[in-house]
Amino acid sequence: MKPQAIVNQILDGRPLHHVRSTATAFAPTNIALCKYWGKRDEFLNLPINSSLSITLPNKGTTTTLTFCDQSHDVIFLNQAPVDPASTFAKRLATFLDLFRTEKQFHFEVHTTSNIPIAAGLASSASGYAALILALDQLFEWHLSKKELSILARLGSGSAARSIEMGFTKWYAGIAADGMDSFAEQLPYQWAELRLGLALISEETKSISSRKAMQQTIETSPFYTLWPQKAAQDLPLLETAIAQKDFIQFGETVESNALAMHACMLTATPPICYFEPQTIALMHTIWRLRKKNIPIYFTEDAGPNLKLLFLAEQESLLRKEIPSLEILSPFED
Ligand code: PMV
Repeated sequence: MKPQAIVNQILDGRPLHHVRSTATAFAPTNIALCKYWGKRDEFLNLPINSSLSITLPNKGTTTTLTFCDQSHDVIFLNQAPVDPASTFAKRLATFLDLFRTEKQFHFEVHTTSNIPIAAGLASSASGYAALILALDQLFEWHLSKKELSILARLGSGSAARSIEMGFTKWYAGIAADGMDSFAEQLPYQWAELRLGLALISEETKSISSRKAMQQTIETSPFYTLWPQKAAQDLPLLETAIAQKDFIQFGETVESNALAMHACMLTATPPICYFEPQTIALMHTIWRLRKKNIPIYFTEDAGPNLKLLFLAEQESLLRKEIPSLEILSPFED
C-alpha cells in the first residue's frame, strides 16, 4: 500500500488548498524506552514491534509553514537555507507531496530545533510531528490525535510518538494499511523522574536509522530474538511505570537499548554508534550502580546517552557528570 492512499483515507475530502496563510506548531522529541527497531512495511513505516517512549516537553522542533510561489519548497533549518538537492530537503519535499494535488503549490518551511539534528536525539521524530501539526492547522483539518500520529509516522516512524506528551505507547498493529499502528498517551505521570542528556557528539550519524534497521534485519543473526525481547520488555516497563518501580524501570530500559545495539553490532557490516566516550560513560554509570546509586542509560541511533534517575540523585549526578543537562519530563 502507498502512503498516498493512507493520506487520502485519513483526509477523507478535507481541503488541500489555501485555508490559512500561515501556521506554526511545536512538537516535542521523544526518547524510546522500549525501542522500535525494524519495519514490517518500509513505505508506511510500520514497525515489527510495539514501542514505548517518553516525550521531553521543552525539547523539540517548531515549524512554520506558509505557501510560496517557487517551483520547489523553500526550507530553512535553524534560520539557514537548506539546499533543495540535499537528502534532508528531498525527504521533506517527498513527504509534503502527499499533501498537495498535482504539486499545485509549494511551501516555505521554517523549522527550528533545540536538539542536535540527526545525532540520535530523535530530531526527525519531533520534526515530522511538528510538520504534520502545522499542516493540520494550515488547512484546518482538525484531525484526531490518532490520525495525526499515523500521518506523522509516514514521515518518520518514531514521529508517531511525538504527538502526545508524557509516556506514549506506539502499537505495532497488524493491519496492512497501518490504521492500527499509532501512538497513544499512557495514563501515568512520574514527577520524580529525571532524564540527563549526555551530549557526546553533535555530528550527523554515520548511518541513518532507516538504513541501519534494514541492514540489521537483513544480516544480524540475532535479529530474530529482537521482537521477543521487545514483547517481553514492554509489559515489564508499563508495570514498572504504573508502580513507580524505578529499579525495574531502569533495568528494563537499559537492557532493551543494549539488546538493540547488540543486534546492530552483529550486522554485516557491523553498525556501531558507540564512540569511546559513550563506552567510558557507560562504565561510569555501572560504577555508580555498584555503589548503589540507581542510574541507568539508554542510547538510540547515535553516540549520545540519555541517563535515567530520580530527583534525589540530581545533586550527586551534577557533581559526577558536570556536563549533564538534566530534564524533568513531568515538571518542565
Ligand atoms: O524513526 P526513526 O526512523 O528515526 O527510527 C528511530 C529508531 C530509534 O530511535 C533507535 C528507536 C526508537 O524507538 O525511537
